[in-house]
Amino acid sequence: MNVLHTGIGELVTNDPATGDGSPLGLLHDAALVVEDDRIAWVGPAHRAPAADRRVDHEGDAVIPGFVDSHAHLVFAGERSAEFAARASGRPYSAGGIRTTVAATRAASDEDLDAGVARLAGEMLAAGITTFETKSGYGLTVADERRALEIAGRWTPETTYLGAHVVPAEYAARRDDYVDLVRGPMLDACAPHARWVDVFCETGAFDVDEARAVLEAGRDRGLGVRAHAGQLGEGGGVRLAVGLGAAAVDHCTFLSDDDVEALASGATVATLLPGVEFSTRTPWADGRRLLDAGVRVALATDCNPGSSYTSSTAFCLALAVRHMGLSPAEALHAATAGGAAALRRSDVGRLVPGARADLVRLAAPSYVHLAYRPGVPLVREVVSGGVRYG
Ligand code: NIG
Ligand code: FE
Repeated sequence: MNVLHTGIGELVTNDPATGDGSPLGLLHDAALVVEDDRIAWVGPAHRAPAADRRVDHEGDAVIPGFVDSHAHLVFAGERSAEFAARASGRPYSAGGIRTTVAATRAASDEDLDAGVARLAGEMLAAGITTFETKSGYGLTVADERRALEIAGRWTPETTYLGAHVVPAEYAARRDDYVDLVRGPMLDACAPHARWVDVFCETGAFDVDEARAVLEAGRDRGLGVRAHAGQLGEGGGVRLAVGLGAAAVDHCTFLSDDDVEALASGATVATLLPGVEFSTRTPWADGRRLLDAGVRVALATDCNPGSSYTSSTAFCLALAVRHMGLSPAEALHAATAGGAAALRRSDVGRLVPGARADLVRLAAPSYVHLAYRPGVPLVREVVSGGVRYG
């Protein structure tokens, strides 16, 4: 069964050769054919082949589904009081994570699963067709493993984040906690995870601790990613690049050496503007990264503490206004950039052979995502060839 999507006013393929030669690979008056869960053909509408079914997009823009390479969806409770306190001047601190840890440990498996279902539904409606999600609110062997088991029901992009913070019961013996995270906890979690991550920051884990955890995960076959440069400069970014991490996320505070390391390595820098919005911290300088030749991704970091949004479009508008990205760069970062941050070549592009993950906008151009902030422009989502909305 194949479906011809035609009447596409503006198609973003993210393939320069298929489109106009720009990174977004734009095509106007375009069409594409979806066969089962894959893209089978892309080109000008007047050259489209016949198909079993036909969908007319009536001049709307179509973009690849968003690839959200950073989210923390397995948790219980919420922290709106903490958000409100920040709005009255209290600073963000990693310590708030422990509030969610307590609620998550007390929750049933069913409640945690229902929470992921709710957020995954929000994300799909917002145009996110691939998302990553992490453990990190359990911080015991059993709680971290169950978080990953639940995450794995929703996405193959599961990340072990036992090194999120040191839990209260280990406060006086943090070395023991690091040994647990890179030992028995890793043993229990590795079979359920694709990635290992660490929060390398003042108040969380220092560079030596982070290295120990990431190397142990890597030695177990997990891909490496890291949180670094959220609250201040440190060695986390260079550590991640040196370990060949797929991505280092936040990148709000970066030294010139950090930027140079990112530019010369294969690690994607992920910008998380929802965090800067919610925590009232300075905006990451996306322009500096792009001008240095760094590959950039844009993600929601959906979590109850620092960024409780499932809207890529909101993040994209913030990145355009506050991080120096053009609308084209922001969209590229939220699609192809996210795919690169997850080392995926089957998503983030609309080319033959890629997954049929696409979003029809209630707009003639992708530029409207930033031009009309806060307006729900996702008209229809196709994920793996299945239509929603
Ligand atoms: O990516 N930075 C660490 N982890 C999350 C925040 C988690 C929380 O505050 O609950 C983040 O921003
Ligand atoms: Fe995070």
